[in-house]
Amino acid sequence: MRLLAISGSLRSASTNTALLRALAEAAPQTVTLYENMADFPLFSPDFEADTPAPVLAFAAAIASVDGLIIACPEYIHALPGAFKNALDWLVSRPELIHKPIALLHASHRGEDVLADLRRVLATVSDRFAPDIFARFPLGKLTPPEVAAHMAQPTNRAALLAFLARFTDFIAEADRPG
Ligand SMILES: Cc1cc2nc3c(=O)[nH]c(=O)nc-3n(C[C@H](O)[C@H](O)[C@H](O)COP(=O)(O)O)c2cc1C
Repeated sequence: MRLLAISGSLRSASTNTALLRALAEAAPQTVTLYENMADFPLFSPDFEADTPAPVLAFAAAIASVDGLIIACPEYIHALPGAFKNALDWLVSRPELIHKPIALLHASHRGEDVLADLRRVLATVSDRFAPDIFARFPLGKLTPPEVAAHMAQPTNRAALLAFLARFTDFIAEADRPG
């Protein structure tokens, strides 16, 4: 099974990106981190007929995997613009419609963005799994500190348990009959 991890933060020292990187490093056969969202132009329906190459690459990366794991910070009680822009590019396309999606979260705060993500992702995909969720309050840790924190046995086990729940969810839904 192949999964794509997508961070909603473009910040170079993002805790959400570092959390997803820890997941990809804990399960390299299964999880790949997507890191190119910063290249997306601002979306307008006017440009959909000539979708830019970075967006086409993103869509192809999503099409090629069995599920998505998203970790996204809260900006002004809502989704960060860059991440919402990426979703807007995809919303008229087929890649997300039946894609299994689960959330990780890197903060002890951010209830508003979690509510927004649950509403928005359930809109773009009929296989969003709201109950498959794990939160790691990483506060102001740097990426190396996040890596060390997530390497601790309890945290690594919790991360892998989250991953196992999600892969079970995907396998169950894909099972014939
Ligand atoms: C522009 C901006 C707006 C923010 N607004 C909120 C907010 O409304 N509520 C909140 O809980 N945190 C807010 N934060 C804090 C971030 O959500 C928080 O630091 C998050 O963990 C950062 O994620 P990252 O490390 O992946 O970039 C804001 C941060 C920024 C930069």
